[in-house]
Formats: sequence, C-alpha cells, structure tokens
Amino acid sequence: MIVVSEIGKLKEIIQEWKQKGEIIGFCPTMGTLHAGHMDLVTQSKKQCSKTIVSIFVNPTQFNDPKDFASYPINTDSDLQYCQEQGVDLVFLPSVEVMYPKSLTPIQMSIPSLQSNLCGRTRPGHFEGVLQVVSKLFHLTEPHFAFFGLKDYQQFRVISALVMELNFPLQVIGVPTKREQDGLAMSSRNLRLTPKDRETATLIPRMFQLAKKTLVGGEKNINTWKEILTEFLLTGINLKIDYLEVVDPLTLQPVTNLSGDILLATAVFVGEVRLIDNEILTCPN
Ligand code: PAF
Repeated sequence: MIVVSEIGKLKEIIQEWKQKGEIIGFCPTMGTLHAGHMDLVTQSKKQCSKTIVSIFVNPTQFNDPKDFASYPINTDSDLQYCQEQGVDLVFLPSVEVMYPKSLTPIQMSIPSLQSNLCGRTRPGHFEGVLQVVSKLFHLTEPHFAFFGLKDYQQFRVISALVMELNFPLQVIGVPTKREQDGLAMSSRNLRLTPKDRETATLIPRMFQLAKKTLVGGEKNINTWKEILTEFLLTGINLKIDYLEVVDPLTLQPVTNLSGDILLATAVFVGEVRLIDNEILTCPN
C-alpha cells in the first residue's frame, strides 16, 4: 500500500495508473475508519482495479470549531485497517497541502439541495464539502467515487455537483452500515458515553416506529412527525436538531404521506451530533 501526502507524488502515480488503463475507485473519508467505510472499499475493489482512500479532516466543512477540534483522529489504526482491506493508495494530506494560502478563495453551493436538513442547520457545511470533494476529485481523477448513504444529503449534493459540472466520474451510493442494535455506524459514535450510547438507540427505534405507524394507516404527516418527535424526546440528554420529511430527489419538504419519502433526522446526544435517514415507501 502506498501512502502519499504530497500532490506532486499523487499525480505521478495517478498518471502511471491511467497510462496502464487502471480503473480508479475513490473513497473519500475523514478517518477513524469503521466497517461502514470498509463497505465503500469493498464496493470499490469489486468495480475497480485500483482503490484510493483519502483521510483528511476537512476544516472548511465544520461550522462549529468545537466540533472540528474534537473530531477523532486515529491515523495509525486507519492505515493498518486500509492495509488489511487491500487499499492500493492512501492520500493523507495536511491542511497546508489542501489549502495553501489562496488570494482568491472560491465558494460553491447548490442552493436547492442545501436549503433543508443539514444544509439548514449547519450553515457553510456543504460549501466546505463541495470545495474539498471537488479538489479531491481533480487530484485523484477517479472513474468511480463511493459515498455512504447515511450522509444522504451529501450524496445528493455531490451527485448534483458531478452532473452539473460534468466531472468525468460516476458517484456510487453505498447503503448505511449499522451496529447490531441498528445505530448507524459513525466515527462520532466513539465519543458517546455508555449512557448516551444507549440513548442513541432511540434513533433506529424511531425509524422502526415510523414504518410501523405508516403500515398501521397513519396518513397525516403532522401527526406522524409529532409521534416520532415525542418518541425521540423520551431520551435523556437528547436534543433534536431536525426531523424532516422531504422528497428523496429534490430534498424539498413534502406535505403528504404518499409515494417515496425521505425521513431524515439529526440529534444531539450529549455533545455528539448524530444523523440518520431512510427512504420509505408509503402504503397506498
Ligand atoms: O463524509 C465525509 O466523511 C466527508 O464529508 C467527506 C466526503 C470525506 C468530505 O470531507
């Protein structure tokens, strides 16, 4: 496995691979890798002849400096994990390499996809994601890029970026990997106290309740949201950032429980912000 921190060296290797006709798969991460990330790698290895993982905690996508400062970093175990999984190259740049002092900073956004969910409650977050992901795509020149569907809004925003700006690559969404009790895997789970970890199971249980009440015949979207909100709020130390029902494609709010809908939530359990979502099909 090659570990590269400099752009020049990375470009050299990519050119070599391209000349040999390799198919490049790219899995961008912020490290503290878990089995969810490894699903991205597994998928990439199935489809591509070379797999690149980037590990970079991107400062520009954190709207809360405290959240950035406490984001977990485990580079040694991440590299070992990548080696074991047969990753070909890890790109591990510093902040200075990714963001050399620029006199002309660029800001990107896709307003219609950012007006709800995390885009609404984390102003500036997707601008940072679009910035870093565009740079990483240019640097790694992948044929395929793999993103977890736990960050569904991110997946939609990046898919739109690629389509609107004609990036020559395909974005692949990989299903959310869950712990045995249903909690979506996340590097942030490591920061939960044992008590808060137990409280966090209310999130997957809320999705179970959502499906049960839909099948049970609930037709009123406001009543449905109230039931789900009340259920989440039984958690001690839990604060809801949002609980929204939107169209899975446009990410605009829906007013009826019909067809396919995206139920998405972000909650703070203690200091830790957790997100999850599911696309549900409403019974006729
Ligand atoms: O999903 C993430 O871990 C990050 O948002 C990403 C895509 C690596 C960009 O920093």
